[in-house]
Amino acid sequence: MVEGFRFLPEYFSPAAQRALVVEILSILETNPLYRGAMPRTGKPLSVRNTNLGPLGWVSDIKGYRYQPTHPETGAAWTPIPKALLDLWAAVSDYPHPPQACLVNWYEADSRLGLHIDADETAKDAPVVSVSLGSRALFRLGGLERSSPTSSMRLASGDVVILGGQSRRAYHGVDRIYPDSSTLVPGGGRINLTLRRVTAPNPV
Ligand code: SIN
Ligand code: FE2
Repeated sequence: MVEGFRFLPEYFSPAAQRALVVEILSILETNPLYRGAMPRTGKPLSVRNTNLGPLGWVSDIKGYRYQPTHPETGAAWTPIPKALLDLWAAVSDYPHPPQACLVNWYEADSRLGLHIDADETAKDAPVVSVSLGSRALFRLGGLERSSPTSSMRLASGDVVILGGQSRRAYHGVDRIYPDSSTLVPGGGRINLTLRRVTAPNPV
């Protein structure tokens, strides 16, 4: 397995998972999910998303980018919940807070193709990912698209860290197992990814 990948199963207790889902659902009322699109083709993404924090990752026909406002409401993204800032402080081994939390909402037939997270300039900060709700079949490869891959199931409460070499590794979600959990309404899955986007100013 590629260096720097960490898997923290059941990091969040069932009660903490429930509290996080309740908080996210309440945030979605004013900071809604929307459906982005693929750069160039404009093909709709399989996963709806939104963001929390000073910056949010946006994908549309013009490309991938980070921006401070929601593309549909025009409002600033809602701040990142404390439980997630605490998670980052505990596991990231990075001395600055995350700037973006991408909220990906998977439905029964959602998937996420193999990709690298490459739109951030803070290259030494990890990506910290939280799974909530139904289980997912997660695929992790290496630094090349053709590198061998391995698959694992991610369950509710699990935390995955893409640090070190694995920060630039291909990864994706082949499928979810709908109804393997009732935590997320509709039997879906929420994945939260915390990221540092810009390198902090040198002191
Ligand atoms: C991602 O790569 O952005 C999400 C991974 C996941 O849903 O587990
Ligand atoms: Fe990713």
